[in-house]
Amino acid sequence: MSATANKVDFRRLELRDLTAIETIERASYSTPWSRSMFAGELAKPSSISLGAFEPDSRELLGFLIISRYVDAWHVMNLAVAPEHRRKRIATSLLERLFELTAGEGRRGYTLEVRISNDVAIRLYEQAGFKARGIRRGYYTDNREDALIMWRDPEPHRA
Ligand SMILES: CC(C)(COP(=O)(O)OP(=O)(O)OC[C@H]1O[C@@H](n2cnc3c(N)ncnc32)[C@H](O)[C@@H]1OP(=O)(O)O)[C@@H](O)C(=O)NCCC(=O)NCCS
Repeated sequence: MSATANKVDFRRLELRDLTAIETIERASYSTPWSRSMFAGELAKPSSISLGAFEPDSRELLGFLIISRYVDAWHVMNLAVAPEHRRKRIATSLLERLFELTAGEGRRGYTLEVRISNDVAIRLYEQAGFKARGIRRGYYTDNREDALIMWRDPEPHRA
């Protein structure tokens, strides 16, 4: 269950990372978040923004942002630089977040993903998420449906 990416450091994202975040975001999404959306998430006390970095160069390889709601943690954004994909960086980011939030009120985890995004759906399934519903026409750019996925809370660790 604990596959980890080789030679990757994790730390919270900071404002100085915004340019690197934007570069990965633009390479990853047809409708990327704006810089101010990221700045807003980084500033929110109810969000956790985590980056995966190459240890020597300190290059940002990928990031994950989750936000705490009453019932659950919501995955807001996850992306890995195209040239660093398929090295389990996204999996390691998710696992690190599960560790960081274990036992916190026993909230589960939820997310929406484009129904056509087979790669991400497979990643989330491998990380323990299960499909629980569809939001019709959720994505405003092409009216694509969203698959709603949930993962149970982490067991509490004393
Ligand atoms: C989705 C994304 C974050 C995956 O990042 P990643 O670091 O490459 O993912 P991982 O290496 O941890 O992959 C974990 C598993 O996901 C699946 N997976 C990942 N990339 C895949 C691909 N190109 N083809 C098929 N399966 C894939 C596999 O099951 C993989 O496990 P395996 O390598 O043991 O077979 C990355 O492709 C990305 O940034 N995509 C664009 C943005 C996006 O779609 N984000 C999610 C939106 S909700």
